[in-house]
Amino acid sequence: MRGCNRFRWQLSPSLPLQPSRKRRRRAALLTPSHGTNSRNLDTRKHLQRVRRGALLTADHRILIVRLETEADIAAIGELVADVFRSPAEARLIDRLRDEGHILVSLVADTDHRIVGNVVFSHLPIFMEDRTIEAAALAPLAVHLDYRRSGIGAALVSEGLRICRQRGKDAVIILGDPRYYTRFGFSPELAAGIASKYSSPSLMAIELTPHVLRNARASVKYPNAFDDLE
Ligand SMILES: CC(C)(COP(=O)(O)OP(=O)(O)OC[C@H]1O[C@@H](n2cnc3c(N)ncnc32)[C@H](O)[C@@H]1OP(=O)(O)O)[C@@H](O)C(=O)NCCC(=O)NCCS
Repeated sequence: MRGCNRFRWQLSPSLPLQPSRKRRRRAALLTPSHGTNSRNLDTRKHLQRVRRGALLTADHRILIVRLETEADIAAIGELVADVFRSPAEARLIDRLRDEGHILVSLVADTDHRIVGNVVFSHLPIFMEDRTIEAAALAPLAVHLDYRRSGIGAALVSEGLRICRQRGKDAVIILGDPRYYTRFGFSPELAAGIASKYSSPSLMAIELTPHVLRNARASVKYPNAFDDLE
């Protein structure tokens, strides 16, 4: 099994460097480092499924989270249209990709089948005196048959790690607080950020401590998001 996992990692051409053993473990994403509240304790059960950078699905298939490649684009579109029962979110991703907004797109891959996807796009936060390098998380999709096994959490956690690695100080999400607060997203942190989507569902997480403290700021989502309305 170990050799198999190592082989799979080496096959991930999108990963810029062969990750260290420690990183491989983190790439499975369910580490306490992203656990900023007690709900993250729930994810500990998933840690038992982690083997050297992979998750095991309920039916014992190996699942890896990796960067999207060009070969994944059609499968991502099909998955996302299926999950949202509409082509709108898939079109959003295509447009974000075509217009160069995407910072990172991750897929959950089991036996070369794409069963999950998350996209983070560049979204600067404009403050009065400076601009914060930030990203927007949207959309996040996991195939219906693979839910509640930690894949969504794996995609979000790994995405946040890469956003931090790529110099982002914060991430914004418009979503359900009951799901996203477990990662540390907070409506309070986004309360001072003006946006056409301002609401209790607009949340933020700081990747650099205190960067959003008392923020009086604004964001402008890429026009591609207008098509979702
Ligand atoms: C949201 C979604 C990505 C979660 O994927 P997942 O792989 O099942 O997530 P995880 O396994 O990490 O977490 C599952 C937990 O989240 C909970 N959860 C899922 N969606 C939720 C929501 N909208 N509100 C609150 N909790 C939610 C589940 O009940 C489950 O709870 P449990 O851990 O107590 O059993 C998946 O349900 C999905 O694709 N939904 C449709 C698309 C969507 O709504 N995307 C998010 C908005 S862009």
